[in-house]
Amino acid sequence: MSDLILSMRNITKSYEVEGHRIDVLKGIDLDLPANERVSLTGKSGSGKSTLLNIMATLETPDSGEFLLKGVAPAAMSDRALSMFRNKEIGIVFQFHHLLPEFTALENVAVPLMLYRSRRESMQRAEAMLGRVGLEHRLNHKPAELSGGEQQRVAIARALVNEPSLLLMDEPTGNLDNETGQKIIDLISSIADERNLTTLFVTHNTEFALKMGRVIEIREGVIHSL
Ligand SMILES: Nc1ncnc2c1ncn2[C@@H]1O[C@H](COP(=O)(O)OP(=O)(O)O)[C@@H](O)[C@H]1O
Ligand SMILES: [Mg+2]
Repeated sequence: MSDLILSMRNITKSYEVEGHRIDVLKGIDLDLPANERVSLTGKSGSGKSTLLNIMATLETPDSGEFLLKGVAPAAMSDRALSMFRNKEIGIVFQFHHLLPEFTALENVAVPLMLYRSRRESMQRAEAMLGRVGLEHRLNHKPAELSGGEQQRVAIARALVNEPSLLLMDEPTGNLDNETGQKIIDLISSIADERNLTTLFVTHNTEFALKMGRVIEIREGVIHSL
């Protein structure tokens, strides 16, 4: 099963709030083969972000089997896991989480500078920003960019290390419909170019249908749509 980028079996996750237990994920089974594009939908509070955060290795499941590229994140040391995450997983959230004091170019170069020279990092970051259509905004800080441009920078940052998995949690949730549409088209074309396995959380049905496969979380389990 070496061509599976992600595999989950019977993943569960509950939260305890003020003595009250919420069972969010009740047995998630999901395989993402290499180069697959999937939209994940579901009502607000259904557990979409919880599931994405587990996929991103930012949260740990309570039980179940979870493999990324055939490796169990649970078995890795903290250091190995953060290197793995930096290299293999690109993440884009609804809000861009860019560093406000840094330019677009510096924001995109940051994940590269851990392992590469500053000069090479800047060159790669510039090329990536060109790919998302921002060659004319390299030296702008996040506050000097539109919402759509900020998300393009976040996408460039997520992809600059050439990850095998791109995870996006409502990346268009904060954008108007036309800007969101352009972002989805951009992501789709980059995913095609790079054979990028992509999981895209959205509750916009029109956008969801742009991916090859649509799944929904309902009552804590995955349904195919
Ligand atoms: N850190 C947390 N502590 C307690 N409850 C949480 C936490 N994160 C999420 N939840 C609860 O888990 C449920 C699913 O949340 P979430 O995954 O954010 O849903 P979605 O992204 O589909 O809107 C919600 O009821 C939410 O309140
Ligand atoms: Mg969410």
